[in-house]
Amino acid sequence: MSSEFLIDKEIIVSSNRGPVVFKKNEEGEIELIRGAGGIVGSMIPFLVQTHGTWVSSAIGEYDHYMNTKYEDKVPVPLDNPEYYVQFVKTEEEDYNRFNGKFANPLLWFIHHSMWNPPYSPCADDELHQAWDSYKHVNSMFAQAIIKDIQKSEKTPIVMLQDYHIYLVPEMIRKEHPDVLMSQFVHIPFPSPEIFQQLPNHMQKEILGSILTNNVLGFHIPRYMNNFLQTVKLILPDANVDIMGGNILYQGHVCHVRTYPISIDQETIKNQAKSPQVLAKKDEVDEIIGDCKLIYRTDRADLSKNIIRGFQAYDMFLEKYPEWREKVKFVATLMPSRQDIKIYREYTDNIRDLVKEINNKYATPNWEPIKYICRGDYDLVIALLKRYDVLLVNPILDGMNIVAKEGSAINENKGVLVLSTGAGCYEELKEGAICINPYDLRQTAESLDMALLMDDKTKEELQKNAISALKANDLNRWTSSQLDDIEAVLIEKQNLSPDSKEGIEMN
Ligand code: G6P
Repeated sequence: MSSEFLIDKEIIVSSNRGPVVFKKNEEGEIELIRGAGGIVGSMIPFLVQTHGTWVSSAIGEYDHYMNTKYEDKVPVPLDNPEYYVQFVKTEEEDYNRFNGKFANPLLWFIHHSMWNPPYSPCADDELHQAWDSYKHVNSMFAQAIIKDIQKSEKTPIVMLQDYHIYLVPEMIRKEHPDVLMSQFVHIPFPSPEIFQQLPNHMQKEILGSILTNNVLGFHIPRYMNNFLQTVKLILPDANVDIMGGNILYQGHVCHVRTYPISIDQETIKNQAKSPQVLAKKDEVDEIIGDCKLIYRTDRADLSKNIIRGFQAYDMFLEKYPEWREKVKFVATLMPSRQDIKIYREYTDNIRDLVKEINNKYATPNWEPIKYICRGDYDLVIALLKRYDVLLVNPILDGMNIVAKEGSAINENKGVLVLSTGAGCYEELKEGAICINPYDLRQTAESLDMALLMDDKTKEELQKNAISALKANDLNRWTSSQLDDIEAVLIEKQNLSPDSKEGIEMN
């Protein structure tokens, strides 16, 4: 990207979950709290750099109030703004159908190939109603973004994030045919057969809309290839250039590319040295005692394969009794999407299994699993610095940032045990012991192998992981998307050399 490219551009990012929420604290004051989720951490540095706007759902109790007060442009922070947020307020019932019935779980499960086809999904009336709500909420997002485009005094670049807002690009494109627009899909993309679990018209509408983006990004070639094959099958009128990743559909070209998301090593390393993280040392010492540490940290999502992780640990303690009382499995697991029944059941099943394993093996001085269920990021960082083994065994996972963070900051020659289903497997496979996430025996054996590994091999793995991380950082993730957006702009300018009509300049 040329150094001047961003000077006359207005960045508009949009995702369901935003970078901040507003709540009232105990003193009754409205307080700004940083939003949860990986997208937030990945996009904030860029938003700060460009003083852009983030359009997201009003999720916090006072988000809507703040949005009205600041007329759709809430400064963050309020007193010394680095960027702005516009909140989209939807009716509660509509939002619940959009997110709690359609985006999560239907789309999420399809993207992670997690349905059980003989029984589910079932596109019943409720699901079709949820689709109407998905469309409606998407149209409200589109209207909010259109407002920002129209207010902008510079050339806007719209950067949409994730599967909640698949129908937004087409709605924007109808109003602003030449606006520069990209979308990044943070989760895997399934094979065509799995995508076809959606009712036919939904498949077509979703794909048709996504293709109105100028640039469409996935983490890795496997997801991109699945997408290209899916378009080929479902939209026979689309001209799909599989090798080049370009799709011509209804007169518009969408450039499909891969941008593997990563971490900013300097930021995470500074966090690891911060007083707040150092202050966790005593707590960590107390939790681990003299044991070796097997660690995992996840949102308690079904795709993360948490149950099989504990089953493998059970098998490990059974097969290798010499490790009993010498190792501890610490799991910091944040309950997630508790509005959805299968998620509530999953959280309950995890708790039951932890109890069962602890009852089976515990001794007066030893608890085999320490299950921590609170959002304490400083503690997570402190544990990532200390693990002997980090278990990352998702069924499928878009990227998995934890594996990258752990490899960057671990100070204990820790070994990463990594599922082939994680997007980061592509980058970190030479820096980890790799497992098939369904294979309990292999996972149990890998835990043993990791704990017994000699220092030289461990150093070799960590060195490989670090060099993979150096080759691709967070800055590259954003700048390579912008490079491709800039290329689109240059192409448009070349097509109409003496007129600016082809380019959105408002
Ligand atoms: C994944 C998705 C995000 C989502 C996050 C948390 O990382 O890619 O879009 O925000 O999960 O899920 P939640 O339902 O809590 O927003």
